[in-house]
Amino acid sequence: MKAKIALTPGDGIGPEVVHEACRVLEAIAERFNHKFEFAEYLLGGCAIDKHGTAMPDATLQGCLASDAVLLGAVGGPKWDDPSAKVRPEQGLLAIRKQLGLYANLRPVTPYPQLARMSPLKPERVTGVDILVIRELTGGLYFGTPKGREKTPAGERAVDTLVYTDGEIRRIVRLAFQIAQKRRKLVTSVDKANVLESSRLWRQVAIEVGKDFPDVKLEHHLVDSCAMRLITHAPQFDVIVTENMFGDILTDEAAVLTGSLGMLPSASLGEGRRGLYEPIHGSAPDIAGKGIANPVGTILSVAMMLRYSFGLETEARAIERAVAQAIADGQLTVDLGTAKPLSTTQMGAAVRERLA
Ligand code: IPM
Ligand code: MG
Repeated sequence: MKAKIALTPGDGIGPEVVHEACRVLEAIAERFNHKFEFAEYLLGGCAIDKHGTAMPDATLQGCLASDAVLLGAVGGPKWDDPSAKVRPEQGLLAIRKQLGLYANLRPVTPYPQLARMSPLKPERVTGVDILVIRELTGGLYFGTPKGREKTPAGERAVDTLVYTDGEIRRIVRLAFQIAQKRRKLVTSVDKANVLESSRLWRQVAIEVGKDFPDVKLEHHLVDSCAMRLITHAPQFDVIVTENMFGDILTDEAAVLTGSLGMLPSASLGEGRRGLYEPIHGSAPDIAGKGIANPVGTILSVAMMLRYSFGLETEARAIERAVAQAIADGQLTVDLGTAKPLSTTQMGAAVRERLA
């Protein structure tokens, strides 16, 4: 097949890890006879520096004209001033919204060889295989009114948590469809004991669940879910939740594996075009040192092959190659090894194992 891939390497270690993932895609293209065309665009802090905005129009147009987007990371201390008018994160939020990417898939599957890196006892992480599906274009991130104003009683800031039943239905439905192909358990996470939006969420989840009698639906309040992710992680299969809860829970779930650098994500909408990015950030402290772990980005392109291009065999080839590299002790410095590989060496270790 032929596909156009937009690259937004972004800031910090973004360009380094995106480079390695592209080389893996090139290796796949050669082996399986595909043609991937890459075009690079500015997003985040680098775009602010050059154009004064986190998402220049050329970037949006380039992404809209592509079959998939691969993103590195955005942000860094240089742009962190809380009073700044433009922020790198605006670029990420804008691209999600503009591309209609309402479903963020974040798989959390630890590698047995890395269990020692987890802050939890090995028996608490053995068997963990969770897919968090986070709603990505609604909730507090985008709700209006939003803003600040001076009032006689002092300055006032407001964010709005709003969801329509349609927005909830489409993401919960996706969770059920995916759970059907997994262990058939959907955990819907809300704060229905306090929030009106959560009560609607729970009501819709129950309605949608009736169309999927083969899948079990359970509800957890977000605070208790946060606790159970630590105490009972192996019991979860698919977790579906609203934007902000999903943001928080996925960082928590990610550390279960002890390897933030390893985890990929996919953001999907109605069509096949998706945005793929590692879940780690721009890691400014190690940017430019050539030691960043490229695996999260490499596994993100595996998700791209699966969800945007329907290339399951190729996706699995990458996932197997990564697992094999880890099993062979090919590790970057974040994975606690005496002989760490550089970013490019780690990329090569994966490519060599693409059977
Ligand atoms: C994430 C990040 C983003 C988010 C930030 C960078 C805007 O934390 O992808 O989880 O909050 O969605
Ligand atoms: Mg986050």
